[in-house]
Amino acid sequence: MSLFDKHAIFEKNSILLTVGILVVVAIGGLVEIVPLFYLKSTIETVEGIRPYTPLELAGRNIYVREGCYLCHSQMVRPMRDEIERYGHFSLAAESQYDKPFQWGSKRTGPDLARVGGKYSDEWHVAHLIDPRQVVPASIMPGYPFLTSELKADRIADDLKVLQIEGVPYTTEHVENARLDLHAQLNPDGDVEAFLARYPKAVVRDFDGDPSKVTEMDALVAYLQHLGTFVDFKVYDDKANLR
Ligand code: HEC
Repeated sequence: MSLFDKHAIFEKNSILLTVGILVVVAIGGLVEIVPLFYLKSTIETVEGIRPYTPLELAGRNIYVREGCYLCHSQMVRPMRDEIERYGHFSLAAESQYDKPFQWGSKRTGPDLARVGGKYSDEWHVAHLIDPRQVVPASIMPGYPFLTSELKADRIADDLKVLQIEGVPYTTEHVENARLDLHAQLNPDGDVEAFLARYPKAVVRDFDGDPSKVTEMDALVAYLQHLGTFVDFKVYDDKANLR
């Protein structure tokens, strides 16, 4: 029996053939995918990208909890219509510390990758409470309950988990997580140490009510930072994209 005759075993047995196909495809897949986890150049380092502040991270947790990704993507694709509508196409580095990433696959609403700074905090608060207040034809659901108090007792643990996943939080970040969460909401407080840990983070009260730390504070802090880390004038010049 030559080697080629043995092939008949596969051809006459559909289950064996399926297993054979899976093995072959898996080898191809592994050869393509595994190196991406080890190559340093898979994600280029881009200036300005930093891990989330504890407050932004708490906001991101709410974004995931409420399933905002079911209607909103966070990836501007490199196509002309998208770039004209949303701004510079997304870089891999911009979702480097997003675990899990929020690229999404459904756009019932617009892409949010560059929504940071597009509207005022007041707009976001009004829109999240009742979208029809600011966009009369909106079909987005309201989230009025987000004005409740933010429960972030485990925020240090959230940072720790991300640390295990490779986000460059230090022990100092983890130990100060709760302090930093509050520091970001109080521009009159001592923010020096906070800003040293999270350069250029925006410090202000996001929901317009300094007396309470709410889920709204966290979610708006998260939305307002989206897509604002990279200075694209500098990036495009360096990458020769202009
Ligand atoms: C059922 C689908 C749906 C869900 C779920 C949803 N949205 Fe929306 N969203 C929309 C639609 C449609 C619009 C466009 C109309 C408008 O501005 O309200 C929109 C608009 C927005 C905008 C303004 C974007 C822009 O560039 O104008 C923001 C910000 C936003 N949504 C945030 C959120 C957040 C945060 C959540 C989760 C708490 C969420 N959305 C959940 C459908 C949805």
